[in-house]
Amino acid sequence: MIVSGSASQSLAATLADETGRALAPVEFERFPDGEQMVRVPDLDTDRAVVVASTVSSDAHVELLQLQDAVRESGVDEVVTVLPYMGYARQDEAFGAGEPVSARAMARAISTGTDRVLTVEPHEAAVCDFFDVPAEAVPAAGQLAEPLPEDLTEPVFVSPDEGAIGIADRIRDAYGRGETDYFEKTRLSGSEVELEPREVDVDGRDVVVADDIVATGSTMSEAVGVLAEQGAARTYVTCVHPLLAANAHTKLARAGVEAIYGTDTIERPTSAVSVAAALAEAL
Ligand code: R5P
Repeated sequence: MIVSGSASQSLAATLADETGRALAPVEFERFPDGEQMVRVPDLDTDRAVVVASTVSSDAHVELLQLQDAVRESGVDEVVTVLPYMGYARQDEAFGAGEPVSARAMARAISTGTDRVLTVEPHEAAVCDFFDVPAEAVPAAGQLAEPLPEDLTEPVFVSPDEGAIGIADRIRDAYGRGETDYFEKTRLSGSEVELEPREVDVDGRDVVVADDIVATGSTMSEAVGVLAEQGAARTYVTCVHPLLAANAHTKLARAGVEAIYGTDTIERPTSAVSVAAALAEAL
């Protein structure tokens, strides 16, 4: 039985199809004071799979509620699928007195589940924070699927060295092209500076690849630098299209040709489904 969080209903339905499992009729409500409530019917199954991207603090609370309700219905095994794990980028204390938020979230989620699957977290090591077996499911290669077949001498670029593996896998799946990465310095939560490296992009099509687009600062800076360097068409690809606040507008103004993400976060740009990858990992 697949039990969906409110932010992952489309992916959960696709996963139910992929795995031949039933989709539980979950209900979501709010009390008059704003607190959330979920309702999960009797599941009549031994194994439940809760699918919930924790895209917000509310979504985190909702996941804990879903896990608790599922456990109460008497299932033997609860598997939690976090297509997108919120707070995963806070995987260390960046300053004195700060928490390791990813660890705090992982510990809380571990209390309600026997196993965790998460898709392409910012660092795979985040899986070690869970107190139950946790696994990172790869999906970046699929981002080659929506790209046009006629890219001119394509270059696959990541905004920093940490995401070069994503660019490599998209290039490998696309079948041709060079890869490179920018040197990135974060100036603030919403400002970054990117220094171009060696690959000459003049007149070539460029695919910028990252794990997540959040505020869009990193990607819009990358698209701007590539335009200055004479790139032809620039495509933005990311596993998690969070696209918070005015991120989409920033990217459009920077001149991006198209944005392609997966359905770990359900957005109009979610051109690729991770359901098959999750089905295989389940
Ligand atoms: C950071 O290292 C990540 O890989 C992303 O580049 C970053 O989190 C994107 O954030 P934003 O869209 O806010 O620049």
